Amino acid sequence: MKNQRILSGIQPSGNLHIGNYLGAIKQFVELQNEYEAFYCIVDEHAITVPQDPKELHKNTLDLAMIYLAAGIDPKKSVIFVQSHVPAHTELGWILNTMTPLGELERMTQFKDKSERHAREGVYAGLFNYPTLMAADILLYHAQKVPVGEDQLQHIELTRSLAERFNNRFGNTFTIPEPLIREYSGRIMGLDDPSKKMSKSAGNSANYIALLDSPDEIRRKIKIAVTDSGKEVTFDEQEKPAVSNLMRIMSAFRDCAPKEVEMRYEGKGYAEFKDDLAELLVEKLTPLQEKYRILSENQDEVLLILAKGAMHARAVADKTLAKAKEKIGFVPINAIT
Ligand code: TRP
Repeated sequence: MKNQRILSGIQPSGNLHIGNYLGAIKQFVELQNEYEAFYCIVDEHAITVPQDPKELHKNTLDLAMIYLAAGIDPKKSVIFVQSHVPAHTELGWILNTMTPLGELERMTQFKDKSERHAREGVYAGLFNYPTLMAADILLYHAQKVPVGEDQLQHIELTRSLAERFNNRFGNTFTIPEPLIREYSGRIMGLDDPSKKMSKSAGNSANYIALLDSPDEIRRKIKIAVTDSGKEVTFDEQEKPAVSNLMRIMSAFRDCAPKEVEMRYEGKGYAEFKDDLAELLVEKLTPLQEKYRILSENQDEVLLILAKGAMHARAVADKTLAKAKEKIGFVPINAIT
């Protein structure tokens, strides 16, 4: 019996790559057997930076199809779009009224993102991103939240908001805990191993997109930077580029990087890279095939999202109603 609940979300901002897959989606697929899982497509978070409407629309459906193609099973998990469940913004608003400005100013993701824009390009939504994320989590009484390390600060804020609310108004929210992948799967750029793999990198050789063709995958692995020397050894200080490629292989093979090292003892970079490219092709082809089938059956995808939204609403609306009552809002008197 699954007695614990998890919730996680990914922004529909396009071009998902193997870093997103290894850091989040692969884990989502595994966790759905152990937990009651809610997987959200956080379109309201996506618009905290300007989005083109057509792109946002496409990216939202794309992410749903990628979730499904990767193996998230709508019979086991709830897949839904954040904006289909109005309770998120409502609770987000309530939490905003209880979040000191100073706490939001300290969020490193906000600092990073806002430093990249001139002040006129930084909007209130970006500043309030963490309270909406707290609402996402708290509405579902999630005990665990699968996230990357860069989100730990947001989970910490969510915990303190929940504690503060519970102390002030009485027990309402479950205090969530982060669930971090054991060997942290930080996948770095193929053209620069000092920075995280990123879809917004100017150079598309930085990442392998989940929908890259086999030839594209082979080409990008071939030109991926390596380090001096020729041994395939796992040493993140001395050989950051090769170690990153080894980490990718080990993550797809579900083994430790040291096992990859043993396998390539006495062999060179070229052989290792050839094998890595073929492994990626082998792992991504089935996902791409399922994605293609789904994209020809968009009605089915929309139906899955609609059912997910109904399920999510049932849970979220109950929590929201309780929170509203606790803070003194007058409930609509049920007319019988
Ligand atoms: N902020 C998360 C990220 O960028 C995405 C997210 C939004 C999320 N809401 C969430 C993750 C709730 C976990 C739980 O990765």
